Amino acid sequence: MLIDQFGRKHTYLRISLTDACNMRCSYCMPLSSYHGTKSNKLMTADEIFELASIFVQNGITKIRLTGGEPLLRKDFDTILKKLATLPVNIGITTNGLLLDKHFENLVKHNVKHINISLDSLDAEEFKRITHTGQLEKIMLHISHLLTLNMIVKINLVMLKNINEHAIIDFVKWTEKHPIDVRFIEFMPFEKNDWNKEKVLGYETVLNTLAEQFDILKIEDETNSTSRNYKVKGFKGNFGFITTVTNPFCESCNRLRLTADGKLRNCLFAKNETDLLTPLRNGENILELIQQNVLSKAAALGGMNDLHSNSDRSMIQIGG
Ligand code: 5AD
Ligand code: SF4
Repeated sequence: MLIDQFGRKHTYLRISLTDACNMRCSYCMPLSSYHGTKSNKLMTADEIFELASIFVQNGITKIRLTGGEPLLRKDFDTILKKLATLPVNIGITTNGLLLDKHFENLVKHNVKHINISLDSLDAEEFKRITHTGQLEKIMLHISHLLTLNMIVKINLVMLKNINEHAIIDFVKWTEKHPIDVRFIEFMPFEKNDWNKEKVLGYETVLNTLAEQFDILKIEDETNSTSRNYKVKGFKGNFGFITTVTNPFCESCNRLRLTADGKLRNCLFAKNETDLLTPLRNGENILELIQQNVLSKAAALGGMNDLHSNSDRSMIQIGG
């Protein structure tokens, strides 16, 4: 078991497959010149499998494939096929654009949990936020996932004065669709132009929603990162990820592996442990993982308060 000095058991590993993306969401990756890390610096499919196996042998029960955009990996199918042989629950976080090429494989390898980053239901607004269009295509892909009985969650980053109305649109959307929408407080990462004034806190949003909808609190799963609700009689749910106004670090069970093979024990951690170079040199990886877990700070990577000085952007850390 990977237990840190505060007794937190780590059972959940997020693996970034690439730091490249085919979108340019303003809150994530404003740099249009950013093209991602050279492929020889990224973990290969075999290396991902090898590292994942070590984590799974040591208590990881859930793996989520992230990015960048994980479906940009040409060898995504190979990676998935290998990981599917491990006794672990696999999910994926994607922007949804390339899903149509992967429906069959996702079903075949029993990937049921698909999270889609989607910040607006309005085509123009979506384009302004992502700097790419194609909302319609993503919506078709979401409908198809539902016909395949996938468990679909939508991630929406709440941006003050930018997509506030989308929050209401998405809550209305849960009336007829069995979807979970998670409204995420805007977090600071390198060069994403964050400041406290731009954060739309969950309490404010919840109060506004309560003026319009009959809202019920629903139970949050163990280690859930969101506070969950639903509108009475609606099919779907919604929740808030309150990292900025109410961090939930005491129950954190997550570790992150960046696409270039570095272990990060927190989104806001100051240090990472390179696992890829030692793996290539035949060194003992488990020891490095254990040391990294033991160095995990109690909260927010050791910051007293969130501020805008993270050393990596979200796309490099892996969402
Ligand atoms: N603040 C909050 N959430 C973010 N994401 C990306 N960047 C940020 C940020 N600055 C979210 C996206 C993606 C998820 C993995 O992380 O919604 O779906
Ligand atoms: Fe790409 Fe996701 Fe970042 Fe948007 S949030 S730029 S889709 S990695």
